[in-house]
Amino acid sequence: MINAALQHAARQHDSHQAELFDFLRLPSISTDPAYAAPTAATADWLAERLTAAGLENVRVIPTARHPLVYADWLHAGPDAPTVLIYGHYDVQPADPLELWDTPPFEPQVRDDYVYARGAADDKGQVYIHVKAAEAYLRAAGRLPLNVKFLIEGEEEIGSANLRAFIPHNRDLLAADSALVSDSAILGPDRPALVYSLRGNCHVLLDITGPSRDLHSGTYGGSINNPLNALGHLLAKLKNEFGHVMIPGFYDRVRPLSLEERELLAQFPISETEWLAQTGAPALWGEPEYTLVERIGARPTLDVTGMWGGYIGEGSKTILPSAAHAKISMRLVPDQEPAEIAALFEQFVRDTLPPSVRATVRVGGGSRAALIDRDTPPMRAAAAAYETTFGRPPVFMREGGSIPVVTDFGDQLGLPTVLMGFGLPGDRIHSPNERFYLPNFHKGIETSIRYLALLAAQSAADPA
Ligand code: BES
Ligand code: MN
Ligand code: MN
Repeated sequence: MINAALQHAARQHDSHQAELFDFLRLPSISTDPAYAAPTAATADWLAERLTAAGLENVRVIPTARHPLVYADWLHAGPDAPTVLIYGHYDVQPADPLELWDTPPFEPQVRDDYVYARGAADDKGQVYIHVKAAEAYLRAAGRLPLNVKFLIEGEEEIGSANLRAFIPHNRDLLAADSALVSDSAILGPDRPALVYSLRGNCHVLLDITGPSRDLHSGTYGGSINNPLNALGHLLAKLKNEFGHVMIPGFYDRVRPLSLEERELLAQFPISETEWLAQTGAPALWGEPEYTLVERIGARPTLDVTGMWGGYIGEGSKTILPSAAHAKISMRLVPDQEPAEIAALFEQFVRDTLPPSVRATVRVGGGSRAALIDRDTPPMRAAAAAYETTFGRPPVFMREGGSIPVVTDFGDQLGLPTVLMGFGLPGDRIHSPNERFYLPNFHKGIETSIRYLALLAAQSAADPA
């Protein structure tokens, strides 16, 4: 069965690639209301592809914003395990457009990479599993285990509607494990299993002062300037070494065990590579932690945008009436997003002078995920990677967030496997995002093998 599926996939290289490119042409930018229609069209397109692949009960489930896509195939027998395959069809905005070498929604291939927004994050990766399931159904008429697909359109904006959907739909989503491909490996022949994701907490800060912009000569020096006050506040939030200065911020941070520090120290990441990837002039961060620890095991705080005052041509001598900043905090176990947001707000209240006012608006938040490295699905994933890539995977902590992963564990009790197929240079969220096409095909092979190994595991050990 597995060989039939592998052979089928090998014969379909070109059509699989062509379909992926159709997927990439759909501008499913979840954050921008102007793209609501193409985002919905992308969900419909996926539903159509899942149906064509032979999956059943295909549903486009409306939510308060972007629809969920569900499909399953549940005929593997009562003793066979069920895997819940999750991914997202939404993408980040493509801006700044002028920095793309070719248009973001017109996929083009150069040197084995397909360039398009969403190529690696996450369309190319989620489509791997659609094609793996299809290969089984076409070649063998069945899958080795029960499969459920859950593909959402709001991952890039925090997954709020999916997270609300889960507790009311436990039966629909019931499974024995979850599989997520939305991360990267270390290189074309260096597979990696992610066992930890950071959480996040996003806040919007508005600082106001005078009721209108004022003449900076008449009033300057006597009325506080919200932009200056914002600058002072931001400077106090984090020191020059990267340490967050909000009291209590680190209280719940679980210390790294010596064992884990040793494991992370073996991680083959080079500082030179990291610099080359980013184009930054030097590394930076908490001096007492290594590069790997800074990325995966330490929380952080970053200003993601700030604005106010006059930014048009020339100069304007004003004292602006308002200043704004967006701030993103990345969290690690066991920090709680709501608690961190409250500490942030308290810090703003305690730090700003009475000469300005502040409003703190809390966006979404999610807790960090820490996954047991020693579960049967993890062992199956390691074996599937090793057979396909000729090398066992390394375990790594990832700095990014996939909000719903904690819910798979907490709400559905599922052991989760984060089986990535991206590469470090894929430029996700940046201009010229790309996906390495050989990994697309190897991903399909890995998925085919993984599904068979998961099924065999429970046949050998009916728990
Ligand atoms: N796929 C990424 C997360 C990721 C990035 C995993 C790099 C592994 C390596 C995901 O699509 C993402 O970008 N998540 C957002 C979530 C946020 C909007 C809540 C993130 O991390 O910024
Ligand atoms: Mn993603
Ligand atoms: Mn993303």
